[in-house]
Amino acid sequence: MTTPLSTSRHWAELCPRGADFERTPSGPRARPDALRRTVSALAARPDLWSEHVRFDLTERYFTRLHHDELFEVWLICWELGQDTLLHDHGGSVGAFAVAEGSLVEDHGDRRGTQLRTRVHRAGASVAFGVDYLHNLVNIATEPAVTVHAYSRPLRTMNFYCWVPSGPRYLREIPCDSPEPDTGDLELVAARTRAAHL
Ligand SMILES: [Fe+2]
Repeated sequence: MTTPLSTSRHWAELCPRGADFERTPSGPRARPDALRRTVSALAARPDLWSEHVRFDLTERYFTRLHHDELFEVWLICWELGQDTLLHDHGGSVGAFAVAEGSLVEDHGDRRGTQLRTRVHRAGASVAFGVDYLHNLVNIATEPAVTVHAYSRPLRTMNFYCWVPSGPRYLREIPCDSPEPDTGDLELVAARTRAAHL
């Protein structure tokens, strides 16, 4: 039996609250920088999540550390070579922090024409808005552990592939986690990229 994060005596000082939320037409939503503070603080506190760490060579292991109507927090464990495919977060804002290992991130904007690449090592964190696209992959020589937060909680993700003119929309996938079943999307993305060579 694992311990819910919200029962930790440290949770109140880690979670967004009050002015960390902003009004939007669809209701209150945490500010990305507030989520970044939360995931950064959590990444530095393995005593609060190390019991959840598992590695699986066939698929990323993930578990939800917290969920309420305004935001959620996930722990994701990355074996070598595992990646997400290029996606947005279905209208949610978010943040992630690397707790162990490192990830390479391709990142851009739904309306952009440039996809940039950067490496995030342990201690690094990123906050992002609703138009953010990214693909995360572990191409290092050791597994990685990351902490992610979304507001409001994820309900759908849109997947893309990048072609010379920008992002090419592939498919929306309803989800209740940051790791939906992407099925044949990798093949669809490869075919789409090949058609634009
Ligand atoms: Fe993501």
